[in-house]
Amino acid sequence: MKLEILDTAQEACSAAADYISENFPKHGVLGVATGDTQVPLYQELAKRPPLSVKKAFALDEYVGLSQDDPRSFYSYLVKLVQEPLGFAAGTIRVPLGIAVDLEKEATAFESEILKEPVDLQILGVGTNGHIAFNEPGSDPSSKTRVVKLSQETRIANRADFGDFAPEAAISQGIATILRAKKLVLIATGEAKAHALSMLLAGVENPEYPVTYLASHPGLAVFADKAAAS
Ligand code: GLP
Repeated sequence: MKLEILDTAQEACSAAADYISENFPKHGVLGVATGDTQVPLYQELAKRPPLSVKKAFALDEYVGLSQDDPRSFYSYLVKLVQEPLGFAAGTIRVPLGIAVDLEKEATAFESEILKEPVDLQILGVGTNGHIAFNEPGSDPSSKTRVVKLSQETRIANRADFGDFAPEAAISQGIATILRAKKLVLIATGEAKAHALSMLLAGVENPEYPVTYLASHPGLAVFADKAAAS
């Protein structure tokens, strides 16, 4: 595992942007994450030479939100990734949170990503150690599916949703994420310190899905001092 600890969140995102610029292949497939953590990362990437992205896949989407809902991950990705990074419209595939048959949508997403394997996946981590929306207890062999969100995640989402945070999401599974050739995890802020320490301990722990990343040969972690504390 490659680990870089920088003084601030901005510097951690800048170092991650350098790493992505250097390691992302031409006409590659990018995996994009949608946390607050990645907002400065995408701003930093926009300052660097454009990535040559033929396709991008989102990690997850809330069940019940349409693409034009400003709180959807689809909206986040159009506004903060597709437009500033100059991707053509339609480049980023996001699970459809209002699909009539959600399980069918999840299966379709999984087969699309199997056909176009991700070269580099950007990741964040939840305060409870979740990756994408693979909550504690998720199976390491899990694929894209409909998942129930934990109480802790719903509380963390209150800033966006008030008391009506979504109860479910379509999320890539842990096995789906681990198929990416390179993983770039960004953890910033004190709230992520515990989850990060579990990953750095290097022991797989089902209660902290982030620990399943430790065995991936292409893992690079960028943290600020607060998260590494
Ligand atoms: C979200 C997403 C994850 C993200 C994590 C942390 O809800 N599903 O992909 O990494 O939780 O989010 P943040 O960066 O906002 O703390």
